Amino acid sequence: MHLGIDFGTSYTKLGYMDQGNFINLVGEENQIPTLVVYLPSREKLFFGKMAMRLNQPGAEEVRFFKLEMKRNPDFRLGPFTLNDILREYFNYLRDEYVEVWRGELESITVSVPNYFGLKPRKMLLEAVRQSFGLSEVYLLPEPVAALLGYNAIHAQEQLEGDILCVDIGGGTTDFSFLSMTHKHNEIVMESQFQIGHDAFSGSELDRGVLRFILNPLFKMQHGYDIPAPITSEKNLQGEERYWFNRLMVTAEQVKVAIGRQSSAYFNIPGFYQQDSLVFDLPAELFMAQLEPVFTRLKKYINERVREKGELLGFSREGRFILDYLLLLGGASQTRGVNQLIADICPGPEIIHPQDLSFNVVRGLSQWKQAGSSSFLRVKTIYPFNFFIEKWNPVGTGTILEKLPFDTENLELDINGRHKIFTVPVASPYNLATNTNSLKLRVHELDSADLQAQVEQFMGQDLVLQVDDEEIEQDLVDLYLNLGASTMEVGKDNNKLNSAVNEKQLFPNLLSHQETALDLIRLYPDTNPRLLQDFEEYLDQFSSQPSSDYSVLLMYKLLAFLQLMG
Ligand SMILES: Nc1ncnc2c1ncn2[C@@H]1O[C@H](COP(=O)(O)OP(=O)(O)OP(=O)(O)O)[C@@H](O)[C@H]1O
Ligand SMILES: [Mg+2]
Repeated sequence: MHLGIDFGTSYTKLGYMDQGNFINLVGEENQIPTLVVYLPSREKLFFGKMAMRLNQPGAEEVRFFKLEMKRNPDFRLGPFTLNDILREYFNYLRDEYVEVWRGELESITVSVPNYFGLKPRKMLLEAVRQSFGLSEVYLLPEPVAALLGYNAIHAQEQLEGDILCVDIGGGTTDFSFLSMTHKHNEIVMESQFQIGHDAFSGSELDRGVLRFILNPLFKMQHGYDIPAPITSEKNLQGEERYWFNRLMVTAEQVKVAIGRQSSAYFNIPGFYQQDSLVFDLPAELFMAQLEPVFTRLKKYINERVREKGELLGFSREGRFILDYLLLLGGASQTRGVNQLIADICPGPEIIHPQDLSFNVVRGLSQWKQAGSSSFLRVKTIYPFNFFIEKWNPVGTGTILEKLPFDTENLELDINGRHKIFTVPVASPYNLATNTNSLKLRVHELDSADLQAQVEQFMGQDLVLQVDDEEIEQDLVDLYLNLGASTMEVGKDNNKLNSAVNEKQLFPNLLSHQETALDLIRLYPDTNPRLLQDFEEYLDQFSSQPSSDYSVLLMYKLLAFLQLMG
């Protein structure tokens, strides 16, 4: 089985493909709330259904713990670090939902937002690997998985061209610009960025329902407000947190119900403390009261998304130039969302995958077959910059220097290993004080935060640390290994032995080159010597594992360029 895990901020979905059909492993309840509860009295973490039911004094509940991976990797819950929480969560998924399936687990593909840097990616990979005792674990950007998932069940009408993907989840709303070409079986992910969870998301809509609809109705019926710390969610303690969570569950039910019918009737005993709430909510009132929340989405698209689109060529003179707009995420089903998006982005067809909740996980569970064969190539912009530490000119301390490798504009193969810098061992980048040893530090910074003071992130996002290792050569190469989510040092300055073998990554590579050779041969003016060089190296390339792909390309280019001369 190739397992897909859509590790969403608010819900997790699990499944695999069986002879072309998607099998949801969660069963009846469909999705697992991504939340953790810590019970200090038992020094234990609880997840899923059990966590939802816990109502013990002192229990600490954390929703959206996934977001902490990016925002606050030092997050702790009692004695548990974020690493512990993740590992325990995946253990829970394994024991509760995957172990019952008695086949062989061959690979796992997990969704990841593209704005996760190397550290959170690595943290996620390691947690899944440890829990399932499996090394074949892949990370796939959510929008790419969404496209795969969509195309899997719409074989006749596959999306192609320039696509804006809008994913309105429980915790965030993500926007991504993608291009898909079937001719080359290639998906290029140009950009992914998110609007903060506190601006527009499923849970922000729930907050709006609580503040602007439920609380005013409650006050009308009982003459008093739900206490302000609860509605404003400020410094919630013990019982207040319990009530806040409970009221948010009610708010979510109201939001979902009003999406399906033009008015919804509710009779909720013990809505707050002993007081019940009974009301009939017409859809128009829902829309009117939530106007301020919808306005935030509108403003964000009109300003930020358009601006980003303009930079990437997906928008011109204020109009989006797109083939499709793919609208995803549970909360995109909220009443009014579809219309709002259609009003702001006139033109492209708005596509709503059927079976919305499982669209991403369906894509994930196909990735092993589709993506790691040569069938589909996925390239992405990696929205981070790297800074290397070096001695200051007087050698008294270190400063940071931005590496020139342009991750923001280069399309990188998501399985690949990319050389980003060469460090001369005798240079200020080598922080070692002993001769013949190497000490390096490289930090990563989200391009969105590039304006921030460099000192502010120093040491926090350390992605490469080499400490006084013995070294013999004069140069070392630094690699961004996107497949493994690491930054690596290539010790033997020899790309031929790089960890990634191009032939394994692209099994059809050889046949492409053979086709090229045949094509060049067709031209009468071809220089036979150059053609022979290309041919000979191609032979060598196919028979010797250590041959260099870039040399092969050079021979091809020489033969080809001569034709043009
Ligand atoms: N029928 C519905 N109508 C409106 N909202 C819905 C509906 N079904 C689910 N939602 C909302 O969708 C949100 C969850 O969406 P989804 O499962 O896509 O999020 P996620 O993947 O966990 O989060 P994220 O993508 O932010 O990481 C919740 O806020 C939920 O209330
Ligand atoms: Mg999601």
